[in-house]
Amino acid sequence: MSDQERILALRAELHRHNHNYYVLNAPEISDREFDRLMAELVQLEAAHPELSDPNSPTQRVGSDLANNGFEHVRHVRPMLSLGNTYNRDEVRDFYERVRDGLGGAPFEICCELKFDGLSISLLYEQGRLVRAVTRGDGEQGDDVTANVRTIRSIPLQLPDSPGGWPEQFEIRGEVLMPWRVFEDLNEERARREMVLFANPRNAASGTLKLKSPAQVAARRLDAYLYYLLGDNLPSFSHYECLQAAHRWGFKVSEHTRCAKTLEEVYSFIDEWDERRRTLPVATDGIVLKVDDLRQQQELGLTAKSPRWAIAYKFEAERARTRLNKVTYQVGRTGAVTPVANMEPVQLAGTMVRRASLHNEDIIRSLDLHIGDYVFVEKAGEIIPKIVGVDTEARDEGLGPRVNFVTTCPECGAPLVRYEGEAATYCPNEANCWPQILGKIEHFVSRDAMNIEAVGPETIYEFFRRNLIKDPSDLYKLTVAQIADGYATRTVSARRVVDGVARSREVPFDRVLFALGIHTVGKTVAKVIARHFRSVAALRVATKEDLLAVDGVGDVIAQNVVSWFAVPRNVELLERLAEAGVQMEMPEEQRVSESLAGKSIVISGTFEHHSREEYKIIIEQNGGKNVAGISAKTSFVLAGANMGPSKRQKAESLGVPLISEADFLEMLKQGEAPAEPTLF
Ligand code: IVH
Repeated sequence: MSDQERILALRAELHRHNHNYYVLNAPEISDREFDRLMAELVQLEAAHPELSDPNSPTQRVGSDLANNGFEHVRHVRPMLSLGNTYNRDEVRDFYERVRDGLGGAPFEICCELKFDGLSISLLYEQGRLVRAVTRGDGEQGDDVTANVRTIRSIPLQLPDSPGGWPEQFEIRGEVLMPWRVFEDLNEERARREMVLFANPRNAASGTLKLKSPAQVAARRLDAYLYYLLGDNLPSFSHYECLQAAHRWGFKVSEHTRCAKTLEEVYSFIDEWDERRRTLPVATDGIVLKVDDLRQQQELGLTAKSPRWAIAYKFEAERARTRLNKVTYQVGRTGAVTPVANMEPVQLAGTMVRRASLHNEDIIRSLDLHIGDYVFVEKAGEIIPKIVGVDTEARDEGLGPRVNFVTTCPECGAPLVRYEGEAATYCPNEANCWPQILGKIEHFVSRDAMNIEAVGPETIYEFFRRNLIKDPSDLYKLTVAQIADGYATRTVSARRVVDGVARSREVPFDRVLFALGIHTVGKTVAKVIARHFRSVAALRVATKEDLLAVDGVGDVIAQNVVSWFAVPRNVELLERLAEAGVQMEMPEEQRVSESLAGKSIVISGTFEHHSREEYKIIIEQNGGKNVAGISAKTSFVLAGANMGPSKRQKAESLGVPLISEADFLEMLKQGEAPAEPTLF
C-alpha cells in the first residue's frame, strides 16, 4: 500500500470511529487504539504535505491560524425563526391552523426536542463540509467553518452510503455545550476568577466565536441536526430525511417522533417536560413540524417564521431560596439595576446566586425584606428573576425592608426617575465610571463600530491608564502608547490601532447607533440616518422633523433632540468627525430605472418591508415617493388598514391602488430588486 493509499484508508477509518464514538455513542475500538491510528496519520501527513486536507480527522484539533473577524456570508436560504406557544390551547390553535390550511387533508406532526444552543447552517458539497455559518440575523451569518470543523459529531466527509447523499445540500442544527462540559468550564473559570457563563447556550455561542479553533476544540462542543434542505432530498417526509441524515453520519436526536393526532402531540410534550432533565444537553421546549415537505410548501411562510412549524416552550423552572442582600449595578445609560444576592440554589441545572430585581417598583410591589424566602425563575434568559416572596415563611428574624438607593453606588450622585419610566438613573453621565466604560463598550460593539480588538477588558485597562475617557479618544491611540514599552504587547496593540482605523469606514447609520442615544436602537438609527442623511441635518432637526420619520415616535424624537442639546455630546461628535468617522450617508444609488417618472404614495401597513424600506426601494428604482394623493400621483402602494378618506380620494382622482404583493411582482417584472439595497 502506498503512503497515499494508507493516508486515505486511515482517514476513512478514523472518520468512522469518530462517528461511532461521538454520534452513535458506540465505539468499536479502545481510545488507545484510536490514538495510535491518529498518530500514524499525523506522521504520514507530516511527511506528505502535498496530501493535506482540511477535512482530515487530524484537523479536528484545530489549527491556530489567524482567524480574526469572521466573514459575513449570506445564507443560501434565509434562516427563519419559530413562533412560540406556551400552553396546550396555543398548540391546539397551531394544529387547527395547519388542519384548516391543508383543507382537511390528513397530516402528521413531527415532534422534536428543542435544543437550547445556537443554530448553525452546514453546507455539504460532494459529501464534504464546505461551510458552516451561524444564524446571524437570519439573512447573513458568521462564517465559522474553521471552528465547526473541530466539533467531532459533525462529519467532515460523509462516507459513501447506499442511496447516497445529494451532491449539494444544507443541513441545519444546533451547536450545544453539554451540561458536563459546561460545568467543568465554569468551575475552571471560577478558579481563574473569570466571569462565568450564565448557561450552556451562552457558553456554546461564546466558544464558537473564539478566534482560535484549537481553543474551540478543547471546549468539546456537540451538535444535533434537525433540518435538511436542498433539491433532491431523499424523501418527502421530514422525519425520513432526518433518518437518512443519520445514516449519512449526522447526529440526529433519537427522540423524534411523528404524531398522527393532537393527543399524540400532547403526550410527547408531557413526556419530555419531565424526561428532558435526564438529557446530557439543555433543551427549552419542543418543536412541532408538519412532516410532509409538500404540505410544508403548501402552508408557506410568514415574514418571520414558517406556518408549518412552531415551538412549544417548557415552563420556566422555579426555585426557592433566601435573600441575603441587594446590590446595585449602574449600566451604560446610567440606569441603576437592583440585584438580589441570595443563598446559592440549584435552578435549571445551574447554581444561582444572583437575580435581577429590575426596578424600584418591583421591589416595592414584592414588599421585599432582607432575609425573605424568594421564588426565583429562569425562563431561558441569562439572568434569573425573582417572581415572588414566600410571605408565609417570614419569621421574627426578618431583616429590614429593602429600600431603593437614593444615590449612585458608584459616584454618589443623587439618582433621578423620569416621568413614565420605571428605571432609576444616575444623571452623572460625564463622570460616573460604569457609564463612561459602558458607552465606550457600546460604541465598539459589533452592531455599532464593530471594533473587535477592543473588548471590555481592554477598555477598562485603557481607561485605568488614562488613555481614553470617551469613544473619540480611541482614534488618537498609537501602538507605542498602548504597548507602553512592552515588546510583547505590540502585536495586540497594532490590532487595536488597525481595528479602530477600519471603523472609520463604518456607515453613518451605525455611527448614529454607536452614540448610544437612549431608545435609538439599530433599526431606528437606520431610518433616522436615511431620512436626514447627515449629522449636520440631524443636529438642527426639530422634534416635529423627527416625528415625520416613519418609526420614530414621541419618546425617540424627544431623546434625540435632548441628546443634541447637550454641548458635551455635540463636542464628542465634532471630535469623532475630526477623527474621520462617517458623518453622512453616501448618495443613494440607483439599482434600476423601473419606476422612473412615477410618483408613488405609500399608505397603510405592510407585511414584507417597513414603509421606510418601501420608500428606499422606490427611490432606488428611480421612482419618487410623495406624501399626498393628487391627480399627478401615478399610484398608491396600498397596504393593510389604509384610511377610507385616502381610498376615496384616490378613487375620485382615478389613481390606481396597488397592493403590496402586486407591487413586489411589478418590481420583479421590471427586473428590479424587491429589497432595499444597502450601500
Ligand atoms: S427547526 C424553520 N428544530 O430554535 C425551522 N429548530 O426558535 C427552523 N431549535 O432558530 C428551526 N431545536 O436554533 C428547529 N428541533 C429543532 C430545534 C430548533 C432547537 C432552535 C433553532 C431555531 C430556534 C427557533
